[in-house]
Amino acid sequence: MNAVITAIGGFVPSSILTNKKISETVDTSEEWIEKRTGIKERRIADCNTATSDLASAAIENLFENYNVDRLEVEALLVATATPDHILAPTASIVCEKSGLANAFGFDMNAACSGFLYALEMGANMIESGRYSKIIVVGADKMSSIVDYEDRNTCILFGDGAGAVLLEKTESDNGLMKTILKTDGSGTSSLLVPSGGSRNPTSMQSLLHRTNYLKQEGAFVFKKAVASMSQVSQDALAKNELHAAQIDWVIPHQANLRIINAVSESLNIDSEKVKVNIDRYGNTTSATVPLCLWDFKEDFKLGQNLLITTFGAGFSWGATCLKWGVMREKKAVETIKTDTVNENVLVAH
Ligand code: ACO
Repeated sequence: MNAVITAIGGFVPSSILTNKKISETVDTSEEWIEKRTGIKERRIADCNTATSDLASAAIENLFENYNVDRLEVEALLVATATPDHILAPTASIVCEKSGLANAFGFDMNAACSGFLYALEMGANMIESGRYSKIIVVGADKMSSIVDYEDRNTCILFGDGAGAVLLEKTESDNGLMKTILKTDGSGTSSLLVPSGGSRNPTSMQSLLHRTNYLKQEGAFVFKKAVASMSQVSQDALAKNELHAAQIDWVIPHQANLRIINAVSESLNIDSEKVKVNIDRYGNTTSATVPLCLWDFKEDFKLGQNLLITTFGAGFSWGATCLKWGVMREKKAVETIKTDTVNENVLVAH
């Protein structure tokens, strides 16, 4: 039995933060940001919107576009590095907002690899035979932990969410073997130093702005290229596939130069590599599902996809999947607005 993606939803806030706007507030330029990262703009949620709002909007988009009974969903896995609260779980809030009355839910934090980790957990739950319908969502409100006075990081991140429904299939479509990696020696190179149990929020942390994300950009860049290249090669080998058999690559969207270096090392033509970093920046747990959502019409039955990610931790990984039969679509693709925050959350 395999786990296969049968429905997809996505959501980004309507508010756009352009490079021009950033260059008016920190010492950078539109050209520098676009040339060094590939990012032209990113979406930013307003202060009344939390990660659970983004996640439930993506799930609502899934339900609005595919014929799925929400009461049949048995579990919700929320990958996020920016939970609504340290406690309670964001997944509980999303279960409530999305009407997943028969599902249990929990959060997973593996930073930019969170969605891939959660997808692997969800697939294993389906393949065990114990569950038949699971929603995996990647959602982050990165603007809540980004320091808009730090030009090294504020140019990179955006807010968004993407969700997939995993179901069982007896065909050979669906998720193949996955490789997930963790190297805790990288923790200090990319983290939010304060606000957790190590350094609870204090006057000092606010003064020194250590409640915001810090990154050794150039070091992380090199690690990301090497790790995503190697783990992708290993995942291809584990699934007995050659790079030439991959129809589409869905890479984590952290920097276009990282994406290009990884695809070059795999010898995969750039036309096969899905990129939306120009419009959304790095949405952390949401980059992969947002990419699946953005480009879903391009994926055809039986095509092979390669997903690879790298993020804080360090955490990284890769998987291959054979695109399966999607659930029947509803007649009209609907526009989503969020009831909580109708003026701000307008569907992309
Ligand atoms: N505008 C202008 N100049 C800048 C900016 C900016 N926004 N940011 C840095 N610079 C300067 C630096 O100060 C430095 O100047 P110097 O040479 O005078 O010292 C110069 O540009 C080069 O700095 P680098 O840090 O080497 O720049 P780089 O080309 O590496 O780009 C970036 C920086 C975009 C952050 C890149 O390193 C990167 O993308 N890193 C990886 C990000 C990533 O993959 N993160 C993992 C996932 S995120 C997660 O898990 C949450």
